[in-house]
Amino acid sequence: MSDPAKKPLRLGIAGLGTVGIGTVQMIQRHSAMIAARAGRPVVITAVSARDRGKNRDADLSGFAWENDPVDLAKREDVDVFVEVMGGHDGPAKAATEAALAAGKDVVTANKALLAHHGHALALAAEAAGRVIRFEAAVAGGIPVIKALTEGLAGNQIRRVMGVMNGTCNYILTRMQSAGLPYDVVFEEARQLGYLEADPNLDVGGIDAGHKLSLLAAIAFGTQVSFDAVELEGIGAISIDDIRHAADMGFRIKLLGVAQMTGRGLEQRMTPCLVPADHPLGQLQGGTNMVVVEGDAVGQIVLRGAGAGAGPTASAVMGDVIDIARGFRLPVFGQPAASLATPVAAQSAAPAPWYMRMVLVDKPGALAKIATCLGEAGVSIDRMRQYGHQDDHAPVLIVTHKATRQDIAHAMGLFAGTGVVVGDPVAIRIEEV
Ligand SMILES: NC(=O)c1ccc[n+]([C@@H]2O[C@H](COP(=O)([O-])OP(=O)(O)OC[C@H]3O[C@@H](n4cnc5c(N)ncnc54)[C@H](OP(=O)(O)O)[C@@H]3O)[C@@H](O)[C@H]2O)c1
Repeated sequence: MSDPAKKPLRLGIAGLGTVGIGTVQMIQRHSAMIAARAGRPVVITAVSARDRGKNRDADLSGFAWENDPVDLAKREDVDVFVEVMGGHDGPAKAATEAALAAGKDVVTANKALLAHHGHALALAAEAAGRVIRFEAAVAGGIPVIKALTEGLAGNQIRRVMGVMNGTCNYILTRMQSAGLPYDVVFEEARQLGYLEADPNLDVGGIDAGHKLSLLAAIAFGTQVSFDAVELEGIGAISIDDIRHAADMGFRIKLLGVAQMTGRGLEQRMTPCLVPADHPLGQLQGGTNMVVVEGDAVGQIVLRGAGAGAGPTASAVMGDVIDIARGFRLPVFGQPAASLATPVAAQSAAPAPWYMRMVLVDKPGALAKIATCLGEAGVSIDRMRQYGHQDDHAPVLIVTHKATRQDIAHAMGLFAGTGVVVGDPVAIRIEEV
């Protein structure tokens, strides 16, 4: 039972789209349960969006309206500013800063804002004695921020990996299951409304890169450094690669990997091959997965919905209820001033690579390729030649561990052999 002597926690919600309306609906549906768990009622006092006249899927009549989210953030009757508008600058940033300056706690779903300004905002929050919580910003409904900052806090984290953009995973799994090329499935995804207004945020890996940079900050006690994330999207993945990878027991995923190495912090969001029988390889459709490796706990796999009204409202309310209970944590799990300035690893750790190329079908062609690989210091683990097409022969190679630089060097040498048709492909195989 909530304690009637305890005052309600009063929310101001800026943004009434998928996440905002999902949150309103959840509070309206579960108010008694939330009050019991939070130890006090949680109420919405005011809301803001661009268009007051828009028809929305919730009864907003009991809430005050503000046209400007900055005014909402400063209201006397708001304790927690819930920022679910989006955008890394503009109103989201201005209103979050205003909320902190006015002594409000902040709950946000905005990974772009925190990826770009997370450290400065964490310092501002701590200077004001306030918290910023952002569970919904990373992998939607999966409570991965809580897992890292609380349940796994005693572990030295070795590596964090994740499939954290449902649209990319939908495209890649649909290409595989339906045997359709990238362009066709991309268009399908657009028709289904799965793509952001700027699709490059999804397929270019930027959205998932934002999320990875936030996980890396918590996992490794470093300041958020999104600019250091190596980004490569899925636009160049062909149906041939998806098929060949499958033949060799792999799946292609847009995989985020963050790990602290002797050469610095490595953060990558790039297409990778993973074993088909690992949970990452089995992940279908728009679902997200985060894999955390700790020195004591070993490997933890978290899987669930990364987007949508229900899952994101679930995450927002988990944060709100923590604040209502009086549970307070530094933004990135330790005081912002103690977060190290990360040294970005200049190159990723060596890994096996999948390579595909088409060779002219003449004696000695394969030997020339093997020589180039040898010259670049890359050794071959497996090689497979597919049936000839006219006078061309597709060849697949899985290498032993090599650096990206060595692979790039080998690919450069291929060009001089005169036996490679078109551009060869190389995709990292992540050892999971
Ligand atoms: N959708 C998801 O599944 C999901 C998952 C995880 C994280 N997120 C994050 O959550 C945030 C919101 O996403 P969403 O999908 O809910 O977005 P959305 O459906 O596009 O809704 C955005 C809302 O913000 C309002 N808004 C935009 N600019 C504004 C401004 N200048 N002043 C006041 N209100 C403004 C819009 O008003 P109008 O309605 O009047 O246009 C709209 O209600 C983003 O940071 C996103 O990255 C979303």
